[in-house]
Amino acid sequence: MFKFFKDHGLIERNVFLLIVLTICVSSIGAIVEIFPLFIKDVAIEKVEGMRPHTPLELAGFEIYKREGCYGCHSQQIRTLRDEVERYGHYSLAAESMYDYPFQWGSKRTGPDLARVGGKYSDDWQVEHLMAPRSLVPESIMPGYKFMHHTKLDESLLQSMMSVLSMVGTPYTQVDIDNAHSDIRVQLGLDIDPAKVEDFNKRYPKVFIRKFDRKATEITEMDALVAYLQSLGNRVDLKTNKGRDW
Ligand code: HEC
Repeated sequence: MFKFFKDHGLIERNVFLLIVLTICVSSIGAIVEIFPLFIKDVAIEKVEGMRPHTPLELAGFEIYKREGCYGCHSQQIRTLRDEVERYGHYSLAAESMYDYPFQWGSKRTGPDLARVGGKYSDDWQVEHLMAPRSLVPESIMPGYKFMHHTKLDESLLQSMMSVLSMVGTPYTQVDIDNAHSDIRVQLGLDIDPAKVEDFNKRYPKVFIRKFDRKATEITEMDALVAYLQSLGNRVDLKTNKGRDW
């Protein structure tokens, strides 16, 4: 013991040795904590019901990112009691496994949106996005009226899906080939039974309806509302029995 203190003096007097040893010691912590996260299968527990975004929702997610909704809204309900009581079940890692990048965040000028899907009707969402203060007079959220008049740009959708499939989102070639047709099926514009059945098989439990009902075209609003309505209700937390949540 006495010898240890004597040698320790050597470390304290030699600043380079101190720096090197400090880095060594703190990197042990980093390796133990961070390395397992690189192995996605270990970090993310498989959860029943989790599925990738449909092409329409994916387009909506792109708009969400483009408009910087993240700057005011998080998508991560923490395991704290007040959050769970306000927003619902706390978020699971698997729920953001297909979000590139994830939208967890810590900035909440507005409420958390991780479970906003199904909380309001489509008409409420459209109206709120067009003119937030018409529904929530004290709101400071900006309006996005143009989305109701802007035709959805689908030109990059298929390339986006193939890139996502390269990094692990399980889109098949059939999903990619059918991207444009799937958008029409999800909006209820193409009701060919064979296509609807095929769509339902590939994307189970997806809402099929025109989200931006007042627009005759396929608008950015359609995509964004489809995305918002999908948030937080893909994983049925009641059917995943035997878990500790
Ligand atoms: C400047 C900050 C700000 C930005 C940017 C912003 N919001 Fe909001 N948002 C708010 C505030 C504040 C509220 C709460 C008042 C209200 O309902 O309008 C809110 C509420 C909401 C709600 C209702 C949530 C609930 O549970 O009641 C939704 C949905 C929403 N925002 C979506 C969006 C989307 C989508 C975008 C991006 C296109 C966006 N917001 C951008 C501040 C913002």
